[in-house]
Amino acid sequence: MGKYQIIATAAMGLEALVAKEVRSLGYECEVENGRVTYTGDETAIARSNLWLRTADRIKIKVGEFKAFTFDELFEKTKAIPWEQFLPEDAEFPVIGKSVKSKLFSVSDCQAIVKKAVVERLKKHYKRNTWFEENGALYRIEVALLKDVATITIDASGSGLHKRGYRIDQGEAPLKETLAAALVMLTNWQADRPFIDPFCGSGTIPIEAALIGQNIAPGFNREFVSEAWKWMPEKVWDDARMEAEDLAKYDQSLDITGSDIDHRMVRIAEGNSVEAGFGDLIKFKQMQVRDISTTKEYGVIVGNPPYGERLGDKKAVELMYKEMGQAFSKLETWSIYIMTSNEEFEQFYGKPATKKRKLFNGFIRTDLYQFWGKRPPRY
Ligand SMILES: C[S@@+](CC[C@H](N)C(=O)[O-])C[C@H]1O[C@@H](n2cnc3c(N)ncnc32)[C@H](O)[C@@H]1O
Repeated sequence: MGKYQIIATAAMGLEALVAKEVRSLGYECEVENGRVTYTGDETAIARSNLWLRTADRIKIKVGEFKAFTFDELFEKTKAIPWEQFLPEDAEFPVIGKSVKSKLFSVSDCQAIVKKAVVERLKKHYKRNTWFEENGALYRIEVALLKDVATITIDASGSGLHKRGYRIDQGEAPLKETLAAALVMLTNWQADRPFIDPFCGSGTIPIEAALIGQNIAPGFNREFVSEAWKWMPEKVWDDARMEAEDLAKYDQSLDITGSDIDHRMVRIAEGNSVEAGFGDLIKFKQMQVRDISTTKEYGVIVGNPPYGERLGDKKAVELMYKEMGQAFSKLETWSIYIMTSNEEFEQFYGKPATKKRKLFNGFIRTDLYQFWGKRPPRY
């Protein structure tokens, strides 16, 4: 088994959650802006891809160095033992980004990194011609930040939010990674009722069900590193077997998603079936103001419209007010609403127990948390 520097990339604000997940997989890690770094073997790469619910992707860090000139970038990239990662037929496109660095031309940095890798591989594989690049994909990234170049290879392929269950979606679907984060930020346990009153395409209820039954979010998809020569098939088989063993398919769930729009309810049902939950998650057409229940100690997580579109504002504010009135009857429930509306508490009619800043894409939002009574201890 090899030893690799692994990076789990994280959306702004989710780093601590990603780190918590990495630690619970058994790896000590360091947290920085936008990424969590740790050391692990091939199994760690496979398990990270399969299990991390809130990370964006898994990358292998193959080099990190200061680079103030193109020469430096070329030589230091060439010094990386690329032959240990890339076989002769590897397809290796190079992408890049540069922030606050002398080398600001991203396209030049990409071209130089590509040239350096080719030089290194030509020497190792004893070739004078270009590589055909008709094998497995090893997408290289050169990321410059304050003149430090981090060179990585992407081990995920499509982003980890692509779980494979979303066959259709509405207008403003939540990224699956953020939906999982919302559920993880609550105190919900699988034996408690769960409602998403603005379910849209069903992302939050589906992520809650995956968490509730401890199903690895990547279980139903493939990863680019599955085709890598140095990632043995057995590693993937074992990681998938572990995921299968740890899944609690018998865990009963009481998860409901509702939405004012019946078309969204149909879409959510379709996605839930695709995720393997069939009718385990209940979906229904309903306005948030009509939500009532006699069940206790449940959790509500919702991503309502934010009222940012012209003409929507007043209607959304009224809806927040009606929501506050409906939820005021649910004394034992904990309620978590994510919105960018800074006056939300005023309309809802109650100050939040706690607020947490979160980014929904580029939109700055708050997760307004209203903690319910604790369940009695027996
Ligand atoms: C931002 S979207 C939610 C997206 C969802 N989280 C997803 O991943 O697809 C907001 C949803 O709230 C629904 N909605 C708007 N007003 C509502 C109301 N008064 N009661 C219930 N649902 C409402 C919309 O139909 C829309 O599907």
